[in-house]
Amino acid sequence: MNILGIETSCDETAAAVVRDGREVLSNIVYSQIALHRPYGGVVPELASRNHVVKLPEVIVEAMAAAGCGWDDIDAVAVTVGPGLATSLLVGIAAAQSLALRLGRPLVPVNHMEAHLYSAFMRTPYSAPGTLCPLTALIVSGGHSMLIRMTAPGRYRLLGQTIDDAAGEAFDKAANLLGLGYPGGPAIDRAAQNGDPKAIRFPRGILRGTGNHERAGGPFGFSYSGVKTALLYHIRDNSPNGDAARIADIAASFQEAIVDTLVRRTSDAMGSDRVLAVAGGVSLNRRLRARIEAMAKERGLTLLLAGTAHCTDNAAMVAALAGGGFPTAVPVSADAIDAQPDLALV
Ligand code: KG4
Ligand code: ZN
Repeated sequence: MNILGIETSCDETAAAVVRDGREVLSNIVYSQIALHRPYGGVVPELASRNHVVKLPEVIVEAMAAAGCGWDDIDAVAVTVGPGLATSLLVGIAAAQSLALRLGRPLVPVNHMEAHLYSAFMRTPYSAPGTLCPLTALIVSGGHSMLIRMTAPGRYRLLGQTIDDAAGEAFDKAANLLGLGYPGGPAIDRAAQNGDPKAIRFPRGILRGTGNHERAGGPFGFSYSGVKTALLYHIRDNSPNGDAARIADIAASFQEAIVDTLVRRTSDAMGSDRVLAVAGGVSLNRRLRARIEAMAKERGLTLLLAGTAHCTDNAAMVAALAGGGFPTAVPVSADAIDAQPDLALV
């Protein structure tokens, strides 16, 4: 069963063909980073207009790279949320048109569930259901959450950030440090030459029973404190463009973000023996190393999303739609709409 997946929830225009929920025949991603760079962040109106321009050629390229004709496509899958409303609508309109024209089923996909599924797209493949119960850390530009997956499509919130997502915190920090956009990869790069212990930034681990703690779930966390600490640190000790000092600040900031994620993940695991990690921030080299060390120390089975599937892509969308999850099933083409705030749990 070949599924054509389409993803336009934010600033990547992506299409992919995946067979049977795991064999990636093609995975084409057109990134709009250069378009948004002058503004230091994603401009929604520009993003959606650019999806309109790029999506047709990205789909054609994905079909060609997969060696598929239209008759070879058994279903179309598309991200319906969460994401930017006007960007989601471009992918949805394209997917609806294709499904109707080809007479094929249309599968609406939750973007966060697709990120989660990317952790299962590994070789050797084992069906996600056989790995449950498991704990999953999904860290992206818009979300940072820890969930327990008891079966495909069945999730419970263990913890989440009550303010910035990890990727958002990286993006804002890079901006403050003049490292450019997008910030995650820039901090990751700068931190390579820095000392993670140079500055002790606060770890936003939530404990207690107040409103904040409830919003974050039992293993919640927060990134507003570390962001403010960075702002004050730069105000009081400006690195003045000194690359070595910027590297130390980047490494120390990254350590605070990563340390918080790893500690909360470790706390939340309970008796689970399988840990899945996915989302754009899971590309971060320090996070990957720390998570791998933690998994080794605790004897966990670690499913780290492959580097080609961490940031937004359509392979994870098509794979989830072919993965037999009860949450990703065909609906009538006219029944879908953009759901910018679609939740996973
Ligand atoms: O999953 P994703 O592509 O989009 C969302 O669903 O949000 O994640 C994008 C986020 C951005 O905030 C970006 O800065 C971050 O992932 N990111 C990284 C790295 N590569 C991308 N963060 C830290 N280190 C990286 N190497
Ligand atoms: Zn994403």
